[in-house]
Amino acid sequence: MDGTLKENDLSRVVAADKANVWHHLLQHKPLESADPRIIVEGKGMRVWDQNGKEFLDAVSGGVWTVNVGYGRETICDAVKDQLMQLCYFAQSAGSIPGALYAEKLISKMPGMSRVYYTNSGSEANEKVFKLVRQIAHKKYGGTKTKILYRERDYHGSTLAAMSAGGQDERNAQYGPFAPGFVRVPHCMEYRKHELGLDHLSGEDFGIAAANQIEEVILREGPDTIGALCLEPITAGGGVIEAPEGYWPRVQEICKQYDILLHIDEVVCGVGRTGTWFGYQHYGIKPDFVTMAKGVASGYAAIACMVTTEEVFDMFKDDADDPMNYFRDISTFGGCTAGPAAALANMQIIEDEELLENCTKMGARMNANLMALMEKHQVIGDVRGKGLFQGVELVKDRDTKEPVDEADAQKVVADCGAQGVIIGVTNRSIPGRNNTLCFSPALIATEQDIDQITNAVDIALTNVFG
Ligand SMILES: Cc1ncc(COP(=O)(O)O)c(C=O)c1O
Repeated sequence: MDGTLKENDLSRVVAADKANVWHHLLQHKPLESADPRIIVEGKGMRVWDQNGKEFLDAVSGGVWTVNVGYGRETICDAVKDQLMQLCYFAQSAGSIPGALYAEKLISKMPGMSRVYYTNSGSEANEKVFKLVRQIAHKKYGGTKTKILYRERDYHGSTLAAMSAGGQDERNAQYGPFAPGFVRVPHCMEYRKHELGLDHLSGEDFGIAAANQIEEVILREGPDTIGALCLEPITAGGGVIEAPEGYWPRVQEICKQYDILLHIDEVVCGVGRTGTWFGYQHYGIKPDFVTMAKGVASGYAAIACMVTTEEVFDMFKDDADDPMNYFRDISTFGGCTAGPAAALANMQIIEDEELLENCTKMGARMNANLMALMEKHQVIGDVRGKGLFQGVELVKDRDTKEPVDEADAQKVVADCGAQGVIIGVTNRSIPGRNNTLCFSPALIATEQDIDQITNAVDIALTNVFG
């Protein structure tokens, strides 16, 4: 480790952390007798902890974020230069990087035209929810306010985003939630028996799964529903790609019932699956796209809500009406470091052809994981796209009974002991926290991919025999 703090300094850091930091998603009792993991440094695909232990990071900063890897000088320089020139001004005015990044982003999103800057994925999603509600009031006399969301999808940690949360364990104890959010069933082929659709497969299953959304629309009344919010590939809910036939039918249903389509690209956006956006694999034409994590690979906090000129026009069509615009602000949406970092991030993806690398390395990872499935009975399913892969662990391949969450976590811990950080669905869906998650940076090499899957091979043997 090329550390900047001496060993003594780091023990002081550990003590300060233990005394004063409340970590995310963590039960802290074990930290009364053990030290927290402090990540001190990162370079490329690797990070080092306070003990100098090196890890290959197979989850891009824990939560699918550092897409171009650690220690990128061009991003750091762009941020520094921009901060020296102008660190901030409220987004009611424009900024140089804000304008240039919007132009570049829109060039990757045919059919979309307007970028709204904000700080987090949750908040970007909330912007859409507010827009949908305002459209309902402007255009439909206050009807069409409901927002549909899907079982197993996640859209953020704020209360409105959790009201659109399809993960019951994540939501438990945080209600009551906001009214006007309605759940539709998941579309996971591996667990199609839960949907009563086990007699169907392939495209027939995909169409039938989408038709279950239509059933909810008809039950609620199409004139009450403003939008359908979906992840292109469900991330924290188990790395679930929709089956063939699903997306065209979803698009058709939205058109038929005049329902706006909101695609949450917070995880898949900006390269994770080998295209700029996940939805671009499926020929979908969304009305709203939200993104966050990979936009600037974590070098600055930035999220975007992107929409069409058609939606944008509705918010300026009557300048005499004092209420007829989007009366919303996000203070830190005016931070210029975000778009400056995002521009440099996109440049790296283009210059280094990382979309192509993502597709190639994703195929290798998928093939390696499929080979592990031959060897380990505990692997029930392997799925994903690009460098976004999931491995569902089951006690029995026939019944598909999930392994216990504690056992799935033992696999993560074993990989960690081997120096590879992987992820697992956690405390999200009751009894279904059994999917290992992989999302290495888009710069991963064949050796990196093999190191990750070899570690998983050893860990599965250690935990399950
Ligand atoms: C699909 C999806 N949407 C939204 C969010 C929320 O983003 P943030 O944590 O930046 O608010 C997440 C976070 O994991 C996510 O996975």
